[in-house]
Amino acid sequence: MTKIQEVDVWCPIKIGDCQLSHRVVLAPLTRNRGTKSSQHDHTWVPNELMKEYYSLRATPGGLLISEATPVSLRASGLYGIPGNFTPEQQAGWKTIVSTVHAKGGYMFNQLWHQGRTTHSGLIGGQTPESSSDVPIDGMFQWNGLSARPYEVPRAMSKKDILDTQADFVQAAKNAMLVGFDGIEVHGGNGYLFDQFLHSNINTRTDEYGGSSKNRCRFVLETIEKLCDAIGPQKVAIRLTPFGLFGQTYGSDRLEQWSYLCAELSKFGLAYVHLIEPRFDELKSAGEKQIALKDMVESGSEDISLLPFRKALCDHTPIITAGGFGPDNMSESIKYGVSDLVAFGRYFVANPDLIDRLKNGEPLYKWDRSRFYGPFDDNELGYTVFKERHIAEKGDILKAQLAD
Ligand SMILES: Cc1cc2nc3c(=O)[nH]c(=O)nc-3n(C[C@H](O)[C@H](O)[C@H](O)COP(=O)(O)O)c2cc1C
Repeated sequence: MTKIQEVDVWCPIKIGDCQLSHRVVLAPLTRNRGTKSSQHDHTWVPNELMKEYYSLRATPGGLLISEATPVSLRASGLYGIPGNFTPEQQAGWKTIVSTVHAKGGYMFNQLWHQGRTTHSGLIGGQTPESSSDVPIDGMFQWNGLSARPYEVPRAMSKKDILDTQADFVQAAKNAMLVGFDGIEVHGGNGYLFDQFLHSNINTRTDEYGGSSKNRCRFVLETIEKLCDAIGPQKVAIRLTPFGLFGQTYGSDRLEQWSYLCAELSKFGLAYVHLIEPRFDELKSAGEKQIALKDMVESGSEDISLLPFRKALCDHTPIITAGGFGPDNMSESIKYGVSDLVAFGRYFVANPDLIDRLKNGEPLYKWDRSRFYGPFDDNELGYTVFKERHIAEKGDILKAQLAD
């Protein structure tokens, strides 16, 4: 029988070098509110509004994870997304991190490469790159852009792999220079690393494809280089072992992510961040369970994060995210599946989420139409809320994109 722990989200915990006073984390949230750079084409810069956004959500001893931040121009895509690969971007992040620190908070920088999910029009005419030349089936559409088919990506050469790893290392060093407390590699949601992990996308026949172990090689090598560069206690990674977003329909999920987690446990990372199997961008929690039954065979324990907890051992802290609210926020901690919980949508709509949770006050529901900018009135639904409605109990288990 699983042992119930005497801990909840309000118990302190140490993550890397950060002594946290509670375990409710701001999940990484792309909000597309950066300012267009006048110096470098196709790049966006963190601004005062973003500083206010993060500052409002910072609490003494609380951990914030930044929105996904491209590590280079070719890693980019979408409007309004600030990377940290130019000096003006770094200057912007520096003021944000300083403000969070001044409030006693901690901040990790999520590092991102979109791979095949971007478009050449957004990265200076370069062809998007991926593990293989397998495109996303469908149309690319984003705010302000007319719909166009996804392009066939270029399968990355060994040199591309080394260059990308060097970009991640440089971005991690930049993050340290501006004061972030650590970095989180975005290893999920159908972006570049996930495009190597999934067998339906990765059709390579070299040492980066063809087996579970080989598909993990790119991400594990990158993590090793990051640990060498900035120290393992500053390095974390986010994974979505049960993700479907970005047409990630790969097989061998339990075997592959258990192997990956077992290898990750050897580094002494700050944490590993896992998404709950129930959460999906397109499906409700109920629909996701049904979809996963077809994809993951055998007992119910397998459609949970427990196998990965076992593979990571107790010494690697786990953050879990996806569908948490006031009623279930301590459950995975009590059952020993995770050590911290990250909130996404509730943190969008409730900048004072920590106080509200602590005091048992009702939470406001998010307005999906204000998730992703840029807007003329970027502050609305971001730092300023005109009209809000109290959330109902089941809201958080509905699909993110449907609601
Ligand atoms: C507006 C929005 C932006 C998001 N951006 C990111 C992102 O940049 N990086 C990432 O790893 N996940 C991203 N996610 C996923 C969230 O981090 C989180 O895992 C998800 O919302 C589930 O948590 P929730 O049920 O508390 O909302 C985003 C989600 C939303 C709603």
